[in-house]
Amino acid sequence: MDLFRPAGEAPVERAGAASAAASTAAAAEAAEPAGAPAPPTRPTPMRRRETAETLGRRQREISVAEFFQKNRHLLGFDNPAKALLTATKEAVDNSLDACEEAGILPAIEIAIEELAEDRFRLAITDNGPGIVRGQIPRVFGKLLYGSKFHTMRQSRGQQGIGISAAGMYAQLTTGQPVRITSRTGKKKPAHFFEIQIDTAKNEPKVLTDREVEWDHEHGTRVQMELAGTYKKGRRSVDDYIMQTALANPHATVHYAPPKGDPFERDRLTQDLPREPLAIKPHPYGVELGVLISMLGDTKGRTLKTALQADFSRVSAHVAEEICRAAGLNPEAKPRSLGVQQIEALFRAIPKVKVMAPPSNVIVPVGEALILEGLKQMVKADFYTATTRSPAVYRGNPFLVEAGLAYGGGLPAEELVDLWRFANRVPLQYQQSACAITRAALSTDWRSYGLQQGKGALPVGSMVLLVHVASVWVPFTSESKEAIASYPEIIRELRLGLQECGRRLGAFVRHRQRLAEAEKKKSYIQAYIPHIGIALREILGLSKKDEEKVVEVLTDTLERTRLP
Ligand SMILES: Nc1ncnc2c1ncn2[C@@H]1O[C@H](COP(=O)(O)OP(=O)(O)OP(=O)(O)O)[C@@H](O)[C@H]1O
Ligand SMILES: [Mg+2]
Repeated sequence: MDLFRPAGEAPVERAGAASAAASTAAAAEAAEPAGAPAPPTRPTPMRRRETAETLGRRQREISVAEFFQKNRHLLGFDNPAKALLTATKEAVDNSLDACEEAGILPAIEIAIEELAEDRFRLAITDNGPGIVRGQIPRVFGKLLYGSKFHTMRQSRGQQGIGISAAGMYAQLTTGQPVRITSRTGKKKPAHFFEIQIDTAKNEPKVLTDREVEWDHEHGTRVQMELAGTYKKGRRSVDDYIMQTALANPHATVHYAPPKGDPFERDRLTQDLPREPLAIKPHPYGVELGVLISMLGDTKGRTLKTALQADFSRVSAHVAEEICRAAGLNPEAKPRSLGVQQIEALFRAIPKVKVMAPPSNVIVPVGEALILEGLKQMVKADFYTATTRSPAVYRGNPFLVEAGLAYGGGLPAEELVDLWRFANRVPLQYQQSACAITRAALSTDWRSYGLQQGKGALPVGSMVLLVHVASVWVPFTSESKEAIASYPEIIRELRLGLQECGRRLGAFVRHRQRLAEAEKKKSYIQAYIPHIGIALREILGLSKKDEEKVVEVLTDTLERTRLP
């Protein structure tokens, strides 16, 4: 609409006239019989389009909420089935994060009610620390507002966009506000809010703000009504919840789906995962622009102390060495440095040996709990899991875990099921764009006894689980569905998969040997009674002796390990 609003009257009118003329010409051309000679071409009048001034009048800031409302596919709201999943996921991820940050064993309740075939009411309740009253409007009514973006710590959320985007989608599709109940402690009242987003301003609009009675001592409940579709099977909300329970063995999860049986899983362990510590960026990964703004904002009085304070693993000695390699004075004031000097500093960093970032900041699920979870969720004959040591991409520590369940009742003729996780969150969409998939495709599963087409996942009765944990997971988009293929990450993924693959290979070969031996034994078994008869006839044995011979031979065969 805006485009056609007369901004600087005259030019627009002229443009309108020109395009009307053009379309008449086009219509005339279309009406011309085929093969007729082309009419003489008239020179097209120069069309006055925009001037810098007319453009200038239209140039204005775009609110991030407006941007993401138009581009909601970037946030995972591109189709109704995915929208229901994404909204659930944003709320559940936040609940798990909040509980862990507060040192509380999570108990999460998810209820999805079908209001109409394409409309649902979602309620997610946690026993977390709650949200202070003053923050509730912005947490739920402002995009890019959160507590996690500026820290480098392993958590499910990172961007400060998830829950307000879900609320915005709900508002867009049903006109209903997000409803929040939150309480921060036994002695505090519970607050109930109804919030909408003013998308033009990216600011919350509070429709209701009152105290209520709530039977939870602390925690948060988020309710929203949204357009969506509920499906069972792959990439469903059900799958997401089951896999969330698997990757979060310390959480109790209750889920009431719109149809079918509820899912209830009590926690498998009473131990909270170790608290992930926040780290500062490692100098090896830093980009020039980031380095410039860090030195602009630093609290360090000298270049040396700034480097020491703002980066991990930079001691006084390392800071001095970096300055020397850059030809800069360690005592220089950070804000006095010009871009060229900072660039010299940037180029000097890789020349100096800096210890790898601390790796204990990454908290894995752990082999034992992956195994236990897999056994609970998947019926199979063989299970294995491995947790690799931490590694580093672009200065960020990360860690890979892999596990698999093989055999049993799993379908044997289909591609294996690949369950991908990032910081304990199951990833359901964009499988082919994900580093995890790339690593799984480029692993040679045939050497571990599975069938595999070129460039495809292996075929066989198997669930393959892969978890990437990091202080910053490099997602390919804001909807956090696929992990970017950094070479260091691919390498670790492949090593993890190969480890599990080797153990699977040993199991598959062992099982094949057993099966072959069984087959041989059954052949021999078939001959034993005939040997008995022959011996009785040749040696004139009694029936009893014959039975004895058969018994001894059968027994010997049973105890023999065939090659
Ligand atoms: N259930 C909850 N309990 C306590 N705090 C919460 C809860 N949900 C959200 N928050 C707070 O609100 C902030 C914003 O949440 P939001 O989901 O929008 O962003 P995020 O989790 O930081 O990042 P991401 O966009 O990657 O999800 C969080 O950073 C957290 O501080
Ligand atoms: Mg979040």
